[in-house]
Amino acid sequence: MTIRENISLRPFTSFGIEAQARYFATFGSTEELRELLSRKTANTLPQTLILGGGSNLLFTCDFDGLVLKNEIKGISELHEDNEYVYVKAGAGENWHQFVLYCIERNWSGLENLSLIPGNVGASPMQNIGAYGVEVEDLFWDLEAWHIPDKKLVTFTRSDCGFGYRESVFKRKYRDQFVILNVTYRLRKKPRFNTSYGAIEQELERMGVKELSAKAISDAVIRIRRSKLPDPKDAGNAGSFFKNPSVTSQTFEELKTRFPDIVGYPNADGSVKLAAGWLIEQCGPKPGTSWKGFRRGDAGCHAKQALVLVNYGNATGKEIFDLSEDILQTVKLRFGVELEREVNVVGSL
Ligand code: FAD
Ligand code: EPU
Repeated sequence: MTIRENISLRPFTSFGIEAQARYFATFGSTEELRELLSRKTANTLPQTLILGGGSNLLFTCDFDGLVLKNEIKGISELHEDNEYVYVKAGAGENWHQFVLYCIERNWSGLENLSLIPGNVGASPMQNIGAYGVEVEDLFWDLEAWHIPDKKLVTFTRSDCGFGYRESVFKRKYRDQFVILNVTYRLRKKPRFNTSYGAIEQELERMGVKELSAKAISDAVIRIRRSKLPDPKDAGNAGSFFKNPSVTSQTFEELKTRFPDIVGYPNADGSVKLAAGWLIEQCGPKPGTSWKGFRRGDAGCHAKQALVLVNYGNATGKEIFDLSEDILQTVKLRFGVELEREVNVVGSL
């Protein structure tokens, strides 16, 4: 394994933004990771960043540290009982391929999470979610390497501090643990979830008579393709912001001023607002909308205002500045502060 110097990160992120890593290496096993971390370069560098599929990262400047790309592969069935099968996947496995692997074997639970870009390793870190399912619903445990103490640690569900697009790995233990593999507990007898969004309409449009994990996966794929830009066509990292939650009282107040505001009740009584709607109602000038807005090569997607895009040669700083302008206008108009979902790396 070589540690290479001054490597462009552009091909390694879905935003496709130019930034250089001072040092860059890949590893395919825990042993290789340990070996890389023990080298002098790794020990003297100011920072280390673990890279998966690069689909939720925005570099705003060059990275003066060591980027370690996780390429640990392998999927195995650990054991099963009457109801469940326990499936372990290497952190470097592509998420969607892993989902398809499970669907082919009639192990259900992950079908609503089809076509989410990125790798298995980041799935618990981000607690990825879509169409009414979050990874925490199916997560069993994971193994991670603790960089400071040089030891292997197992995290069960309760150790992970899962929340909406949150986990201990994203904040409290940021850049301390390298997730090596993740085990999911999947159902042998399916319990499908089609209540969210347009899944049922899409299944009807597809003429599906008998529900299956494959049919739900296909429906989700079709919906996603119709809404979200493919990073091959326009660089992006999915939703740039989280959907913010407000109290039911604030929601009622907002609703009297903005009758069309979109919100969904949370289990705790608060209301989750559709950030895409909030952003669509604001713009760079009064009476304009951010949706479809473009400044240089940085823009707000024309079909999904929650997604910021790089049309070619935008810099990370330009994307970040656009996100800041959006955040400020939403705050001014609705009194609601958006929080970035994307992991922003670098000084500003
Ligand atoms: P990366 O971008 O490589 O890394 C993300 C963060 O995790 C970084 O901080 C990185 O350091 C850390 N990390 C990565 N791997 C490890 C590891 N092995 N150990 C420790 N830390 C690690 N997300 C959703 O939740 N739902 C969606 O519907 C969704 N749709 C998307 C659609 C598009 C078009 C795009 C581009 C993105 C979308 N996303 C969505 C966001 C993204 O796919 C997820 O956040 C995904 O989990 C990121 O995985 P990754 O491997 O690319 O992570
Ligand atoms: N909306 C608008 N204008 C827009 C976009 C959305 O008004 O430009 C409103 C519409 O009312 C729409 C509603 O917002 O019905 C919800 O939109 P959508 O179904 O597209 O979902 P989202 O809330 O924008 C979230 C996740 C996505 C996930 C989808 C499906 C977050 C931050 N985003 O998006 O996750 O795929 O739901 O479950 O929670 C990601 O995390 O990167 C991501 C793409």
